[in-house]
Amino acid sequence: MDSRPVAVIDSGIGGLPYLAWLRDHLPCETLVYVADRKNFPYGEKTPEQVRSAVADLAQRLQTECDPKLLVVACNTASVLALEHLRAVFPGPVVGVVPAVKTSAAMTRNGHIGVLATQRTIDGGYLEHLVQEFCPGKSVATWAAPDLVTLVENDFLQPDAVGRAAVLTSWANIIQSQGADTVVLGCTHFLYVTDELSRLLGTEVVLLDSRDGVGKRVLKLLVEGSLEAQSPGESRLYFTSDRRWNPQELFGHERKFKHFALQFGLSYGGPWSDSF
Ligand code: DGL
Repeated sequence: MDSRPVAVIDSGIGGLPYLAWLRDHLPCETLVYVADRKNFPYGEKTPEQVRSAVADLAQRLQTECDPKLLVVACNTASVLALEHLRAVFPGPVVGVVPAVKTSAAMTRNGHIGVLATQRTIDGGYLEHLVQEFCPGKSVATWAAPDLVTLVENDFLQPDAVGRAAVLTSWANIIQSQGADTVVLGCTHFLYVTDELSRLLGTEVVLLDSRDGVGKRVLKLLVEGSLEAQSPGESRLYFTSDRRWNPQELFGHERKFKHFALQFGLSYGGPWSDSF
Protein backbone atom coordinates (compact mmCIF):
# COMPACT_ATOMS: atom_id res chain seq x y z
CA MET A 1 0.00 0.00 0.00
CA ASP A 2 1.29 3.47 -0.91
CA SER A 3 -0.73 6.62 -0.24
CA ARG A 4 1.56 8.95 -2.23
CA PRO A 5 -0.10 10.66 -5.21
CA VAL A 6 -0.01 9.79 -8.90
CA ALA A 7 1.20 12.87 -10.81
CA VAL A 8 -0.09 13.82 -14.25
CA ILE A 9 1.61 16.50 -16.38
CA ASP A 10 0.98 18.31 -19.65
CA SER A 11 1.75 21.72 -21.14
CA GLY A 12 -1.81 22.88 -20.40
CA ILE A 13 -5.29 21.39 -20.02
CA GLY A 14 -4.66 18.53 -22.49
CA GLY A 15 -3.87 15.89 -19.87
CA LEU A 16 -7.05 16.41 -17.86
CA PRO A 17 -9.18 13.92 -19.84
CA TYR A 18 -6.46 11.34 -19.06
CA LEU A 19 -6.61 12.27 -15.39
CA ALA A 20 -10.40 11.84 -15.56
CA TRP A 21 -9.91 8.24 -16.75
CA LEU A 22 -7.63 7.58 -13.78
CA ARG A 23 -10.04 9.22 -11.33
CA ASP A 24 -12.95 7.13 -12.65
CA HIS A 25 -11.06 3.82 -12.62
CA LEU A 26 -8.80 4.32 -9.58
CA PRO A 27 -11.04 6.08 -7.04
CA CYS A 28 -8.68 5.35 -4.12
CA GLU A 29 -5.76 7.25 -5.65
CA THR A 30 -4.79 10.86 -4.92
CA LEU A 31 -4.00 12.70 -8.16
CA VAL A 32 -1.84 15.76 -8.69
CA TYR A 33 -2.08 17.57 -12.01
CA VAL A 34 0.43 20.15 -13.22
CA ALA A 35 -0.17 22.21 -16.36
CA ASP A 36 3.17 23.60 -17.51
CA ARG A 37 1.49 26.74 -18.82
CA LYS A 38 4.71 28.72 -18.61
CA ASN A 39 6.22 26.52 -21.34
CA PHE A 40 3.09 26.07 -23.47
CA PRO A 41 3.07 25.11 -26.32
CA TYR A 42 5.52 22.20 -26.20
CA GLY A 43 4.77 21.53 -29.86
CA GLU A 44 6.60 24.72 -30.86
CA LYS A 45 9.64 24.23 -28.60
CA THR A 46 12.92 22.52 -29.44
CA PRO A 47 13.34 18.93 -28.21
CA GLU A 48 15.95 20.19 -25.69
CA GLN A 49 13.55 22.81 -24.35
CA VAL A 50 10.80 20.21 -23.89
CA ARG A 51 13.20 17.79 -22.16
CA SER A 52 14.43 20.45 -19.81
CA ALA A 53 10.87 21.69 -19.05
CA VAL A 54 9.55 18.24 -18.12
CA ALA A 55 12.68 17.36 -16.14
CA ASP A 56 12.18 20.56 -14.10
CA LEU A 57 8.54 19.63 -13.52
CA ALA A 58 9.46 16.12 -12.39
CA GLN A 59 12.01 17.53 -9.98
CA ARG A 60 9.63 20.05 -8.53
CA LEU A 61 6.91 17.41 -8.17
CA GLN A 62 9.30 15.26 -6.18
CA THR A 63 10.04 18.14 -3.83
CA GLU A 64 6.40 19.18 -3.47
CA CYS A 65 4.58 15.86 -3.16
CA ASP A 66 6.88 12.87 -3.83
CA PRO A 67 4.64 11.15 -6.41
CA LYS A 68 4.85 7.36 -6.66
CA LEU A 69 4.20 7.36 -10.42
CA LEU A 70 4.36 9.98 -13.16
CA VAL A 71 2.00 10.10 -16.15
CA VAL A 72 3.26 12.26 -19.00
CA ALA A 73 -0.19 13.07 -20.45
CA CYS A 74 1.30 14.75 -23.50
CA ASN A 75 2.32 13.05 -26.74
CA THR A 76 4.95 15.68 -27.53
CA ALA A 77 6.72 15.37 -24.18
CA SER A 78 6.42 11.57 -24.26
CA VAL A 79 7.96 11.07 -27.70
CA LEU A 80 10.76 13.56 -26.94
CA ALA A 81 11.53 13.09 -23.28
CA LEU A 82 10.37 9.75 -21.90
CA GLU A 83 13.84 8.17 -21.85
CA HIS A 84 15.27 11.25 -20.21
CA LEU A 85 12.52 11.36 -17.57
CA ARG A 86 12.92 7.68 -16.75
CA ALA A 87 16.56 8.37 -15.97
CA VAL A 88 15.78 11.18 -13.53
CA PHE A 89 12.44 10.18 -11.93
CA PRO A 90 12.71 7.49 -9.24
CA GLY A 91 9.30 5.85 -9.83
CA PRO A 92 7.58 4.42 -12.91
CA VAL A 93 6.91 6.88 -15.75
CA VAL A 94 4.01 6.26 -18.16
CA GLY A 95 3.83 8.22 -21.41
CA VAL A 96 1.05 8.91 -23.88
CA VAL A 97 1.94 8.01 -27.45
CA PRO A 98 -0.31 8.14 -30.52
CA ALA A 99 -2.62 5.09 -30.81
CA VAL A 100 -1.07 4.00 -34.12
CA LYS A 101 -1.11 0.28 -33.30
CA THR A 102 -4.86 0.40 -32.55
CA SER A 103 -5.51 2.41 -35.71
CA ALA A 104 -3.88 -0.29 -37.85
CA ALA A 105 -6.30 -2.85 -36.40
CA MET A 106 -9.34 -0.57 -36.78
CA THR A 107 -8.99 0.84 -40.31
CA ARG A 108 -11.25 -0.72 -42.94
CA ASN A 109 -9.96 1.09 -46.00
CA GLY A 110 -6.25 1.19 -45.04
CA HIS A 111 -6.15 5.01 -44.84
CA ILE A 112 -5.11 6.34 -41.46
CA GLY A 113 -4.56 9.93 -40.35
CA VAL A 114 -2.57 11.17 -37.36
CA LEU A 115 -3.28 14.65 -35.97
CA ALA A 116 -0.45 15.79 -33.71
CA THR A 117 2.01 18.58 -32.99
CA GLN A 118 4.92 19.28 -35.32
CA ARG A 119 7.38 18.01 -32.70
CA THR A 120 5.51 14.72 -32.35
CA ILE A 121 5.54 14.28 -36.11
CA ASP A 122 9.23 15.16 -36.44
CA GLY A 123 10.37 13.33 -33.30
CA GLY A 124 11.15 10.01 -35.02
CA TYR A 125 9.09 7.93 -32.58
CA LEU A 126 5.88 8.30 -34.61
CA GLU A 127 7.64 7.18 -37.77
CA HIS A 128 8.94 4.16 -35.92
CA LEU A 129 5.36 3.28 -34.77
CA VAL A 130 4.07 3.65 -38.33
CA GLN A 131 6.82 1.42 -39.74
CA GLU A 132 6.25 -1.23 -37.10
CA PHE A 133 2.45 -1.38 -37.07
CA CYS A 134 1.21 -0.04 -40.42
CA PRO A 135 2.93 -1.97 -43.21
CA GLY A 136 0.85 -1.77 -46.39
CA LYS A 137 -1.31 1.06 -45.02
CA SER A 138 -1.29 4.71 -46.01
CA VAL A 139 -0.66 7.01 -43.05
CA ALA A 140 -1.01 10.79 -43.36
CA THR A 141 0.39 12.94 -40.56
CA TRP A 142 -0.91 16.44 -39.94
CA ALA A 143 0.52 19.06 -37.58
CA ALA A 144 -2.36 21.05 -36.08
CA PRO A 145 -0.96 23.85 -33.87
CA ASP A 146 -4.14 25.85 -34.53
CA LEU A 147 -6.20 23.13 -32.82
CA VAL A 148 -3.87 23.13 -29.79
CA THR A 149 -4.16 26.92 -29.45
CA LEU A 150 -7.90 26.83 -29.96
CA VAL A 151 -8.42 24.30 -27.16
CA GLU A 152 -6.00 25.91 -24.71
CA ASN A 153 -7.27 29.46 -25.22
CA ASP A 154 -10.97 28.80 -25.73
CA PHE A 155 -11.98 29.45 -22.13
CA LEU A 156 -10.38 32.90 -21.97
CA GLN A 157 -10.90 33.93 -25.60
CA PRO A 158 -14.00 32.10 -26.81
CA ASP A 159 -14.62 32.54 -30.53
CA ALA A 160 -17.41 30.30 -31.76
CA VAL A 161 -17.02 31.36 -35.40
CA GLY A 162 -13.23 30.89 -35.43
CA ARG A 163 -13.61 27.53 -33.66
CA ALA A 164 -16.12 26.26 -36.23
CA ALA A 165 -13.85 27.43 -39.08
CA VAL A 166 -10.77 25.61 -37.71
CA LEU A 167 -12.70 22.40 -37.06
CA THR A 168 -14.41 22.47 -40.45
CA SER A 169 -11.10 22.99 -42.19
CA TRP A 170 -9.59 19.94 -40.39
CA ALA A 171 -12.65 17.84 -41.17
CA ASN A 172 -12.22 18.79 -44.86
CA ILE A 173 -8.54 17.83 -44.84
CA ILE A 174 -9.28 14.46 -43.22
CA GLN A 175 -12.11 13.75 -45.66
CA SER A 176 -10.09 14.78 -48.69
CA GLN A 177 -7.43 12.19 -47.80
CA GLY A 178 -10.06 9.47 -47.34
CA ALA A 179 -8.89 8.46 -43.84
CA ASP A 180 -11.45 6.28 -42.07
CA THR A 181 -9.41 6.17 -38.84
CA VAL A 182 -7.85 9.24 -37.25
CA VAL A 183 -5.44 9.10 -34.33
CA LEU A 184 -5.71 12.05 -31.94
CA GLY A 185 -1.96 12.28 -31.32
CA CYS A 186 -2.17 15.28 -29.02
CA THR A 187 -4.01 15.15 -25.72
CA HIS A 188 -5.55 18.61 -26.29
CA PHE A 189 -7.61 17.22 -29.18
CA LEU A 190 -9.84 15.20 -26.86
CA TYR A 191 -11.73 18.41 -26.18
CA VAL A 192 -12.88 18.60 -29.82
CA THR A 193 -13.56 14.89 -30.44
CA ASP A 194 -17.34 15.27 -30.40
CA GLU A 195 -17.41 18.28 -32.73
CA LEU A 196 -14.95 16.70 -35.17
CA SER A 197 -16.87 13.48 -35.09
CA ARG A 198 -20.13 15.27 -35.92
CA LEU A 199 -18.44 16.94 -38.91
CA LEU A 200 -16.82 13.72 -40.13
CA GLY A 201 -19.80 11.41 -39.66
CA THR A 202 -19.94 7.90 -38.28
CA GLU A 203 -17.71 6.44 -41.01
CA VAL A 204 -14.61 8.02 -39.47
CA VAL A 205 -13.30 6.62 -36.18
CA LEU A 206 -11.33 8.94 -33.86
CA LEU A 207 -8.86 7.23 -31.52
CA ASP A 208 -7.08 8.39 -28.39
CA SER A 209 -4.79 6.57 -25.95
CA ARG A 210 -6.72 6.82 -22.67
CA ASP A 211 -7.56 3.13 -22.26
CA GLY A 212 -4.03 1.93 -22.97
CA VAL A 213 -2.42 4.51 -20.71
CA GLY A 214 -4.90 4.01 -17.88
CA LYS A 215 -4.53 0.22 -17.96
CA ARG A 216 -0.74 0.54 -17.93
CA VAL A 217 -0.94 2.75 -14.82
CA LEU A 218 -3.28 0.23 -13.17
CA LYS A 219 -0.91 -2.65 -13.95
CA LEU A 220 2.16 -0.81 -12.63
CA LEU A 221 0.38 0.12 -9.39
CA VAL A 222 -0.70 -3.48 -8.81
CA GLU A 223 2.64 -5.04 -9.77
CA GLY A 224 4.61 -2.59 -7.63
CA SER A 225 2.20 -2.91 -4.65
CA LEU A 226 1.74 0.83 -5.00
CA GLU A 227 -2.05 1.01 -4.71
CA ALA A 228 -3.60 3.39 -2.17
CA GLN A 229 -6.47 2.44 0.12
CA SER A 230 -8.28 5.76 0.24
CA PRO A 231 -7.85 9.03 -1.62
CA GLY A 232 -6.43 12.25 -0.22
CA GLU A 233 -7.06 15.67 -1.75
CA SER A 234 -6.40 15.70 -5.50
CA ARG A 235 -5.07 19.02 -6.77
CA LEU A 236 -4.39 21.02 -9.89
CA TYR A 237 -1.40 23.39 -10.24
CA PHE A 238 -0.03 25.37 -13.15
CA THR A 239 3.39 26.87 -13.75
CA SER A 240 3.39 30.66 -14.06
CA ASP A 241 5.76 33.04 -15.77
CA ARG A 242 7.08 36.09 -13.95
CA ARG A 243 6.79 38.04 -17.22
CA TRP A 244 2.99 37.80 -17.06
CA ASN A 245 1.31 40.98 -15.89
CA PRO A 246 -1.23 40.74 -13.02
CA GLN A 247 -4.12 40.67 -15.48
CA GLU A 248 -2.63 37.73 -17.39
CA LEU A 249 -2.01 35.84 -14.16
CA PHE A 250 -5.58 36.55 -13.07
CA GLY A 251 -6.85 35.18 -16.40
CA HIS A 252 -4.85 31.97 -16.02
CA GLU A 253 -6.06 31.59 -12.43
CA ARG A 254 -9.67 32.02 -13.50
CA LYS A 255 -9.23 29.43 -16.21
CA PHE A 256 -7.46 26.83 -14.05
CA LYS A 257 -9.98 27.28 -11.22
CA HIS A 258 -12.68 26.50 -13.77
CA PHE A 259 -10.90 23.35 -15.02
CA ALA A 260 -10.07 22.20 -11.47
CA LEU A 261 -13.76 22.35 -10.66
CA GLN A 262 -14.77 20.66 -13.90
CA PHE A 263 -12.43 17.72 -13.25
CA GLY A 264 -13.17 17.39 -9.53
CA LEU A 265 -9.80 18.71 -8.30
CA SER A 266 -8.91 21.24 -5.63
CA TYR A 267 -7.31 24.35 -7.06
CA GLY A 268 -3.67 24.42 -5.95
CA GLY A 269 -2.72 27.71 -7.63
CA PRO A 270 0.35 28.78 -9.61
CA TRP A 271 3.88 27.49 -9.21
CA SER A 272 6.07 30.50 -9.79
CA ASP A 273 9.57 30.60 -11.31
CA SER A 274 11.11 31.57 -8.04
CA PHE A 275 11.25 28.03 -6.69
N1 DGL B 1 -0.93 18.22 -25.23
C1 DGL B 1 0.32 18.12 -25.90
C2 DGL B 1 0.44 16.81 -26.68
O1 DGL B 1 -0.23 15.86 -26.40
C3 DGL B 1 0.79 19.22 -26.80
C4 DGL B 1 0.33 20.61 -26.73
C5 DGL B 1 1.47 21.60 -26.88
O2 DGL B 1 1.90 21.87 -28.01
O3 DGL B 1 1.91 22.05 -25.83
O4 DGL B 1 1.23 16.72 -27.59
